[in-house]
Amino acid sequence: MRETIRFYLGDELREIRDVDPTLTLLDWLRGEERRTGTKEGCAEGDCGACTVVVGRLDPAGALCYEAVNACIRFLATLDGCRVLTVEHLKGPDGALHPVQRAMVECHGSQCGFCTPGFVMSLFALYLNEAQPDDARINDALAGNLCRCTGYAPIVQAAHRMYELGEPAGDRLADRAATAARLAALADGACLSVGSAGRRFLAPATADQLADLYAANPDATLVAGATDVGLWVTKFQRVLATVLYTGRVGELRRVIDRGDALEIGAGATYRDAAGPIAALYPDFGELIRRIGAEQVRNVGTIGGNIANGSPIGDSPPALIALGAALRLRQGTVWRTIPLEDFFIAYGQQDRQPGEFVDAVLLPKPKPGERFRVYKIAKRFDQDISAVCGAFRLRVGDDGRVEDVRIAFGGMAGIPKRARHAEAALIGQPWTEVSVRAAMAALAGDFTPLSDWRASAAYRSAVAANLLMKLYVETTDPDADTRLVGDRRLAHA
Ligand SMILES: Cc1cc2nc3c(=O)[nH]c(=O)nc-3n(C[C@H](O)[C@H](O)[C@H](O)COP(=O)(O)OP(=O)(O)OC[C@H]3O[C@@H](n4cnc5c(N)ncnc54)[C@H](O)[C@@H]3O)c2cc1C
Ligand code: FES
Ligand code: FES
Repeated sequence: MRETIRFYLGDELREIRDVDPTLTLLDWLRGEERRTGTKEGCAEGDCGACTVVVGRLDPAGALCYEAVNACIRFLATLDGCRVLTVEHLKGPDGALHPVQRAMVECHGSQCGFCTPGFVMSLFALYLNEAQPDDARINDALAGNLCRCTGYAPIVQAAHRMYELGEPAGDRLADRAATAARLAALADGACLSVGSAGRRFLAPATADQLADLYAANPDATLVAGATDVGLWVTKFQRVLATVLYTGRVGELRRVIDRGDALEIGAGATYRDAAGPIAALYPDFGELIRRIGAEQVRNVGTIGGNIANGSPIGDSPPALIALGAALRLRQGTVWRTIPLEDFFIAYGQQDRQPGEFVDAVLLPKPKPGERFRVYKIAKRFDQDISAVCGAFRLRVGDDGRVEDVRIAFGGMAGIPKRARHAEAALIGQPWTEVSVRAAMAALAGDFTPLSDWRASAAYRSAVAANLLMKLYVETTDPDADTRLVGDRRLAHA
């Protein structure tokens, strides 16, 4: 066991022994390091004021830089990483970085709260991509909220920053040296740090994780902390033992298994989005709408499932696609249909010491079509009111051979619409059959009203999504996607 966390703050190696397991990176930067350029807006991952850039080695050993929200990132999870804050951008002679100069030139700098976060999101883009278009820039900025004037000058700055050349005397892009320094920190040791009787445990292998969880079944598993972080910052929960999965390389893999894609429980949305979108373009579009870039860079599909939320976005899509869940407890693995994992609100089929190991996503079979629709108040960075997912196969005779329908936001768990499915199987794929299935949905769900949507709205919109599926699969000219990638409607 190693009892210190080690990471780079810019070019300075930090080794910290006594760490509060849930101390956030933001509180450490501002409170202990007095680096106050990084701001606190919402403390829940929503506004981007706290954006910093974190460099890490991926499971293949390649260096990647990602924008993350420091307000919900636990400091101890940075072991083996490099943290860059807005203060690191200025050159040794005080010269502004091209990202900063572009913001000045284009009048993109507005209030002092949001600007550092915008700069850091742009900086991540600058490090990772050469000539992004407006759509890509909008995506990269979707997690940074500005409530004063608007985004146009900032988008202009995003284009302009590439025209201002390489930063003088800058070492931030020295990738080989950074990768070598981070590789030197990756000792494969299990990490155990803490303070005041509370522990942060971070195994480096799946076997270590299984052993530690078996020995500490009351520990709180943490992957990207985009849910758990809020338990701490918003609900003031005190977690006695945190068991972090983010250092376990085996869990982060996305593997092609021939007839299925195996998505490790620790794979982030960023890791999994490409392979999933290659199989199911609409699922890729859904992932693009989960949180924003800062959330997708660290949040995991495993966490989205394990939290058991009725409004998590990936479970309806995965259930409609017939995905399976692999769980591990010690040296015992079991695989269940994902839909069986969700028993009731707040209750999942998971034993003490058992963790989610991977999700197995079947590949599409000939003739299958898949659509998933997320209904939320905003296009970007919003939680679903309803999310409907549909896998459909219509035979040569025009009849429905197979259909699987799953909804989020319609019950206490993500759930299949079996009455609606039964109303469609064997029927001609016509508006009459679809209307019968829309009526059958009433037997599947009795949704609740909450501040996101009323029960009546949810019922109406769920039924309408079935009609949308029908229109998209029968009318190639229908313009059903007013925002986002319109080509997907008829893919
Ligand atoms: C600003 C913001 C926007 C968001 N937008 C969306 C959205 O649009 N759609 C959406 O669905 N969600 C959204 N979320 C919620 C969150 O990002 C997702 O649920 C995410 O997938 C959680 O993954 P994580 O790795 O961060 O999980 P964590 O927070 O680390 O953990 C979540 C839960 O899973 C458990 N857990 C983690 N890994 C395992 C494992 N291997 N085995 C067993 N249990 C495990 C944890 O103990 C915890 O109970 C948003 C969150 C934020 C902060
Ligand atoms: S302070 Fe708002 S996202 Fe972190
Ligand atoms: S830049 Fe802060 S509200 Fe617009």
